[in-house]
Order: sequence, then structure tokens, then C-alpha cells
Amino acid sequence: MTISALPEFETLLLETDQHICTCTINRPDKLNALNGRVLEDLEKAFTYINEADDIRAVILTGAGTKAFVAGADIKELSALNPETGKKLSANGQRVFSMIEDSSKPVVAVVNGYALGGGTELALSCHIRIATENAVFGLPEVSLGLIPGYGGTQRLPRLVGKGKALEMILSGRMVKAREAVDSGMANTFSGSKEDALKQAREMLGGMLKHGPVALQKAIQAVNASDDGKTSGLEAEAGLFGELCGTGDFKEGTSAFLEKRKPSFSGN
Ligand code: CAA
Repeated sequence: MTISALPEFETLLLETDQHICTCTINRPDKLNALNGRVLEDLEKAFTYINEADDIRAVILTGAGTKAFVAGADIKELSALNPETGKKLSANGQRVFSMIEDSSKPVVAVVNGYALGGGTELALSCHIRIATENAVFGLPEVSLGLIPGYGGTQRLPRLVGKGKALEMILSGRMVKAREAVDSGMANTFSGSKEDALKQAREMLGGMLKHGPVALQKAIQAVNASDDGKTSGLEAEAGLFGELCGTGDFKEGTSAFLEKRKPSFSGN
């Protein structure tokens, strides 16, 4: 196994083997929740990956076996107001769009919980392989919010508007088999190790093809996402508005205080 020297990050682990870079989000004590630092590190890591000649494909996963990413960091969210909320949403969207627009194929190995921003991060990858304990979901409404990292735009494209609305409005959790049946995940594997092996095999097959063709194929498929920009702008605007509501304060406080929320509709 050849491991080249790679940049180091506070919240990410990077390693390469046979031109495939595995990027692991590494905050297992907080179920790999996406705080500002993780987003900053992801942006730097993907800038590096996109420029590194010896890296031709990427696997994105979460540290441990319990969670891929349990969402945006609710502690950070709880302090948002309409202005900072809109900025946070737009910033996360920008980083996730960078992953979606990466010139190299990106496979998410979704190991355990992928909730809120975790599902949205997986959706921004080109392909998703779920482990048998994977759980997808967009529970933002339970916090008095909506998905703010592109979920309202990317999920309907994969599963259709009806299924996406059902998931977003209910906030319910979706297990691996349903995720595959609905088109949200491409396939599922057993353990995280199995899923990583499957991802490496899948990418190994793709890497037999010319890198320019892979790059242009990603570009062409992404070009069909008409209205992405205005949809994302609308999402960030609405996310910001919700950060000024009492229900948002109540939803995030209830989570942090480990109690059930009591929403008043204001
Ligand atoms: N943000 C911050 N901390 C989180 C977190 C999150 N999204 N998810 C989990 N954690 C923390 C918990 O607070 C806990 O920390 P402490 O040990 O310091 O108390 C630790 O991770 C372990 O979590 P739990 O004790 O809750 O683990 P569990 O097994 O009982 O439950 C879970 C697991 C069902 C995933 C639960 O943690 C959970 O519901 N997490 C929140 C999921 C969520 O609502 N995500 C959406 C966030 S909003 C969003 O993402 C907005 C957006 O689109 C931009």
C-alpha cells in the first residue's frame, strides 16, 4: 500500500492508495457533526485533491462505525440569527457544490447516521454506498429549520419531488434498503470495511477510463441541474429567515438540553 505525504487537518484524515484518496471526517465524539472548522477543512482538502495530479478519485466517509455525519453542528446553529443563518447556509452550499463539481469521481461511504447536513453532504457526492446500518434523513423541521446545505434541491432530483417532500416534511429516518430502493443511495454493502472495499473496486473500474472523459461526464451531468443557483439562493434565504424564529430557538435548545421541543409556531 503506497501512502504519500498529504496535508494534515484538525477534523479530517486523508490517505491515498493507488490514486484513490480516502477523506475521513474525524469528530467521532460528536458523530462527525459539521461545524465551521469541518467545512473549512473540507474546502481546503477538496482544493488540494482537485489540484493533486496523483489523486484521481475520492472516497468520503466518517470516522468510526456509528455515523457518517450527524448533521450541521446544532450547538453552532443555536446561535444563528437571520443574517448569520443565511451566510452559514450559503457557505455550506458553496463547499458542497465544490464537491459536486469536483473533476474527480467522489464516492460517499455512508457508515451509520447521515442526518441533515450529513445526508446533504452524501447527496453532493457523485455516488453513495450505504453500509447496512446507514440511516439517512433530513430532520431539520424538528429543529424549526429546513435543510440548508442543498438538500431541498438535490434530494428531489434523485428521488422525485413527492418522495423528497415526504422525507423533508416528516423528517423521518430512512434505512439503507429504502435509500437504495428510492434512488437516494446507489447500493448498499455490509460493514464499513465491505463498503470501502466496494468503493475502491468501483473507482478502480472508473479509473481505467480517461480522466478527461470522467471529468467531462461529471460536468455534463451537473449541467442538467437547471435552476440550481436560484434554488440554492432561495434555500439560503429561507434558512436565514427561520433562524429568527422562536421555533428555531426552541428546537435547537431542546436538542441541546436533551428534551422534546414544544413549538409555538412563531
Ligand atoms: N450537532 C452537534 N452535536 C451533535 C449532533 C449535531 N448535529 N449530533 C450528535 N451530536 C452530539 C450529541 O450532542 C452528543 O454529544 P455529548 O456526548 O457531548 O452530549 C454526541 O454527539 C452523541 O450523540 P447522542 O448522544 O445524541 O447519540 P445517540 O446515539 O443518542 O443519537 C442521533 C444519535 C440520533 C444521530 C442524535 O445524535 C441526533 O438526533 N443528532 C442530531 C441529528 C440532527 O438533527 N441533524 C440535523 C442537524 S441540522 C442541519 O444539518 C441543518 C442544515 O441542513 C445545515
